[in-house]
Amino acid sequence: MTEAAVCPVPHENRAHPLGAPAGFEEAIGNGPVKMIWPNGVEAWVISSYTGVRQVLSDQRFSATREGGPEMRTVGEPILGRPQPGNMNVLDGDEHLRLRRPLSRAFMVKKMNEMRPRIQQIVDDHLDAMERRGAPADLVPALCLPVPSLVIAELLGVSPEHQELFQSTAREMFGKNGSKEVYDAKAAELGEVLVKVAAEKKALGTTDDMIGLMVNETDFDMEEMLMLAIGLLAAGHETTSNFFGLFALTLFERPDQLEILQRDPSRADVMVEELLRYTIGRLGGAGLARKAVEDVEIDGVTIKAGEWATVTFRANLEETLCPNAGELDLERKAVSHLGFGFGPHQCLGANLARAELQILLRSLFTRFPNLRPAIPVTEMDFREDSITYGAAAIPVVW
Ligand code: HEM
Repeated sequence: MTEAAVCPVPHENRAHPLGAPAGFEEAIGNGPVKMIWPNGVEAWVISSYTGVRQVLSDQRFSATREGGPEMRTVGEPILGRPQPGNMNVLDGDEHLRLRRPLSRAFMVKKMNEMRPRIQQIVDDHLDAMERRGAPADLVPALCLPVPSLVIAELLGVSPEHQELFQSTAREMFGKNGSKEVYDAKAAELGEVLVKVAAEKKALGTTDDMIGLMVNETDFDMEEMLMLAIGLLAAGHETTSNFFGLFALTLFERPDQLEILQRDPSRADVMVEELLRYTIGRLGGAGLARKAVEDVEIDGVTIKAGEWATVTFRANLEETLCPNAGELDLERKAVSHLGFGFGPHQCLGANLARAELQILLRSLFTRFPNLRPAIPVTEMDFREDSITYGAAAIPVVW
């Protein structure tokens, strides 16, 4: 298809809260189409599995976000600002300079060492939930505090600032929030982090990420702060939203929940399938890149200067696995795109995996009769954030 249809990005109004935005499937059809994003910028939407991998890994695309498609309709973008230390928007060596030292801290081996501590944090929260008794809201009881405490420990920041981490993350990923409010939050958090950094510098410690950044890298203070805030925010918003979405997906599929409860030792593979399916089913256009040269993808030429966005719906493509549109927790793990692909592939994937595996196994083993207190379709979802998730998950057991 060479002629591109222009259509709006229908990122809200999902017919089902766990399904694609209304009209999205029809709009993208079988091939690349152009869509106008909420901020008025036009971008190609690439929906094939190979096309998505190409956009995310081809060096003819830049990760810059300046002037690009945005879910925000008001104010300047916050997440994609070209700011020292914002690795998401950098390319090539500039990107690697920031990413490489941190990737050591997120290696599988390191994350495996972290597992007993994650388990302890999860168990403490499940104990508290049991003590308080049903009903409970899974979001404040489990989904939010666990990733929040874990990322704070990994960075080496005291959990007493948890509320500040969470509110800064909300502003960073907020769809309608103002840059001024975010800047004020970031400055407040920055003050905390500067003190922490000075302590680590004096002690020469490298066993947490702030220690590693101040004592083993050439990052300046501004870069270190942005990286730390970015990690705190990413660590909060993504894992917590996705764990909630996994729980809701399983509530709607008791047959799949039974597979998990029959063999929770396979939670590692099941997390991959849940992420593949959940993010694929949500669809919608995400992750933007700018072509710096003409690039041919799926029969269209994306011209230098044009924007390309990818949709995770590609995770449901039959070339990836048979019956890809179905959730199947007995499936072997496949190379899904849930953590992205290419040079910007999720830096925290090993951490997110460890957290999600432990959360999934522990919650449904401890509460075998856990069920939603109201139908999933009647729950409140977060329309205010560029990362989608449930605002509250009322449960009983
Ligand atoms: C279920 C949980 C998560 C999902 C689905 C997820 C997904 C993603 C995706 C799709 C990207 C690629 C963005 C792009 O190509 O533009 C990404 C990048 C990133 N993620 Fe995650 N993420 C998760 C958890 C985390 C956690 C826990 C952290 C850190 C604590 C984290 C830190 C990052 C960072 C720093 C990047 C940027 C990497 C770069 O630009 O090189 N993520 N994530």
